[in-house]
Amino acid sequence: MSAGGPGTGAVVTGGGRGLGARVAALLAERGHLVHVTDVDGDAARATADRIGRGATSSPLDVRDAAACEAVARSTAERAGQLSVWVNNAGVLFTGPAWTNTPEQRQLMLDVNVGGVMNGTVAAIEQMRGHGGGHVVNIASLAGLVAVPGETVYAGTKHAVMGFSLSTQADLRRAKVRDVRVSCICPDGIWTPMLHERLDDPEAALSFTGRLLSVDEVAAAVGRVLDRPRQVTAVPRWRGTQVRVLDALPGIAVRALPLVVLQGRWTQRRLLRKGLPERLRTQESAR
Ligand SMILES: NC(=O)c1ccc[n+]([C@@H]2O[C@H](COP(=O)([O-])OP(=O)(O)OC[C@H]3O[C@@H](n4cnc5c(N)ncnc54)[C@H](O)[C@@H]3O)[C@@H](O)[C@H]2O)c1
Repeated sequence: MSAGGPGTGAVVTGGGRGLGARVAALLAERGHLVHVTDVDGDAARATADRIGRGATSSPLDVRDAAACEAVARSTAERAGQLSVWVNNAGVLFTGPAWTNTPEQRQLMLDVNVGGVMNGTVAAIEQMRGHGGGHVVNIASLAGLVAVPGETVYAGTKHAVMGFSLSTQADLRRAKVRDVRVSCICPDGIWTPMLHERLDDPEAALSFTGRLLSVDEVAAAVGRVLDRPRQVTAVPRWRGTQVRVLDALPGIAVRALPLVVLQGRWTQRRLLRKGLPERLRTQESAR
């Protein structure tokens, strides 16, 4: 394991449910003393109780920089070293930007961008010179390409990419070699974030690939901890596909109506026929 050994501390934000809960479980399975945090403190506690293995929990609103610092400090004190911090907390409101309220736009910026910045800085302060560590930021394919219908969300995820890659370069410039920053860019994942979106036409593009299970994305986090990479798309072929579209925006805009139709078709099929078996079996991880 590259990021600290067994017994070292790991923090997951937004770990009360969805992907964060599964990533927290994975980190515990890898031997870390996991600190599960979420703005919903009860949900964080339930995740920690389910995981066992010495996992603890705290309420943490990632918009609060001082609270992120306190969580980083207390995790390092308890475990002796903080070696993994996963910035997972995120929120999504769909629709063109002009249909979101100013409060919705602000919340997406504050949680998805401000929260990642707060968590990353808090983690770096505890990691560098203290055994090092790895910050894993959960971005999205929406951080690599335009996603009409999830417009402000895509803007926040692009910000996560720019921030993470620049911070990794800053660490190199500052000769800090014991801290890594990585981004995971998943396609649509079957979590509560999408559970209510099967009949939301604005969310169609989240359903244009192969809907992922939390297990698949958590496994990618594990691989990145073993072999650090700055950017990991899940699945990898979708990363290639959206990067080509990003390089050819004219073609992307012309292809959009067809792609949206495909996403709507998948949404309706899931509503009509229910989830495929591989996604139904992940429900226990929630
Ligand atoms: N579900 C998808 O299709 C998908 C795809 C790509 C990337 N992602 C990203 O994966 C991450 C996890 O999302 P998910 O799908 O599990 O969503 P989710 O809605 O199921 O879980 C998000 C968690 O974040 C918590 N949270 C919200 N605001 C917070 C705050 N201010 N401080 C701390 N915690 C807060 C919520 O309480 C919740 O437990 C997010 O960053 C999301 O953007 C999701």
